[in-house]
Amino acid sequence: MKYYIKTFGCQMNFNDSERLRGILHSMGYQPAQNWEDADLILINTCTIREKPDQKVYSHLGEYKKIKEKNPKALIGVCGCLAQRMGEELVQKAPVVDLMFSSFNMHQLPELIQQAQAGYRAIAILEEPPEDEDRLWDFPTIRDNQFCAYVTVMKGCDKNCTYCVVPKTRGRQRSRSLESILSEVRALVEDGVKEIHLLGQNVTAWGQDIGIPFEELLYRVAQVQGVERIRFTTGHPKDLTENIAKAMGEIPQVCEHIHLPVQAGSSRILKLMDRGYTKEEYLEKIEMLKSYVKGITFSTDIIVGFPTETEEDFEETLDVLKKVRFEQVFSFKYSPRPDTPAYSMDGQIPDDVKTKRMSRLLELQKSILSDIASSYENTQQEVLIEGYENGKFIGRTRTNRWASIKGQGNLLGRVVKVKVISSKPYSMDCELLE
Ligand code: 5AD
Ligand code: SF4
Repeated sequence: MKYYIKTFGCQMNFNDSERLRGILHSMGYQPAQNWEDADLILINTCTIREKPDQKVYSHLGEYKKIKEKNPKALIGVCGCLAQRMGEELVQKAPVVDLMFSSFNMHQLPELIQQAQAGYRAIAILEEPPEDEDRLWDFPTIRDNQFCAYVTVMKGCDKNCTYCVVPKTRGRQRSRSLESILSEVRALVEDGVKEIHLLGQNVTAWGQDIGIPFEELLYRVAQVQGVERIRFTTGHPKDLTENIAKAMGEIPQVCEHIHLPVQAGSSRILKLMDRGYTKEEYLEKIEMLKSYVKGITFSTDIIVGFPTETEEDFEETLDVLKKVRFEQVFSFKYSPRPDTPAYSMDGQIPDDVKTKRMSRLLELQKSILSDIASSYENTQQEVLIEGYENGKFIGRTRTNRWASIKGQGNLLGRVVKVKVISSKPYSMDCELLE
């Protein structure tokens, strides 16, 4: 039996799919090269904006053709859209044989059995079940041999007014330290060098079990063989001085952080219920710089939140100019059902959002081109993750992609390089040792 998983959304969803692969492998399933060859197609969905919602329906329309060739083939849907829509999704797309929550991925074997017996297997739970930690019993199956995601918490207790995640992923639940460390040990034994801790709001890890997030960083760093640590996504409000200090002290923690600002105007930030002002965000950036030498930043921005004026938007541009992010993920505000911002007055017309977005992209392009050239002739450390078109590729500690001419087997090694030429999204480097 063969499976095919199509994943939309964030790194957490990606990691969930790696876990689903682990479950399927334990059941004897093998990966299919493409969906036409699969006996089971799973779509792991995202609903953060309207676009990913629509993509799921168009994929379902295509995948249903599998039943002409293989009538016993099953089509399943899971993840955030499944969670948000529940039964309504099946009504819209009757081709779905099984569907489950973000909360009960570990029940996949039972659901497949039900569906194979001819029942429609739908298990969308309102709340996480008692045994949701059973999920951690299944190892992930990863494509990247050297860099591994480790989900350390589920859900989110923040109430950002634009965001659907608290509804699709539930309340914040920190995974236990022991469970995380035992996965990290297993990954290192498997050859992993870089551990990327994941949570919707990862800097809040431990709040519900009485351990500060920095403790997790220290403990992961103590595992023999961990060469690099990253974490995503931090919330500016939970990013304490102790976390910044730990980032500076722990040699394995990379000099990069993804810290979504969302908007530059303090008035808009308040409407978003982000819990910080523009000035407080900029102070966090300065604090990080003071503890972590050479740290680089990336961020998320929402353009055109309800009532955003030209002046508000200029504040966002001002943050970009001040922080000089290496990467900016920008999104037009997309109203999500059942979120407070959905029904706010002052929704911004799409053409205004589009114009603001292109101004933002233009500004960021020029900032990035300056940043890129500042890398030329510098020395960097790169963890080699792959080999493509005669070159080794990997990322610097500051999270930039580098390609390196070299011989021998450098895969999985951290090497010192000199940057020869640097473009916005790639760098050509020379091996130094
Ligand atoms: N509209 C547009 N962007 C959104 N994001 C979250 N919700 C919305 C929305 N309703 C963005 C935020 C978040 C990123 C993952 O997606 O910037 O950080
Ligand atoms: Fe999409 Fe958010 Fe769900 Fe990730 S958590 S898959 S970004 S809706």
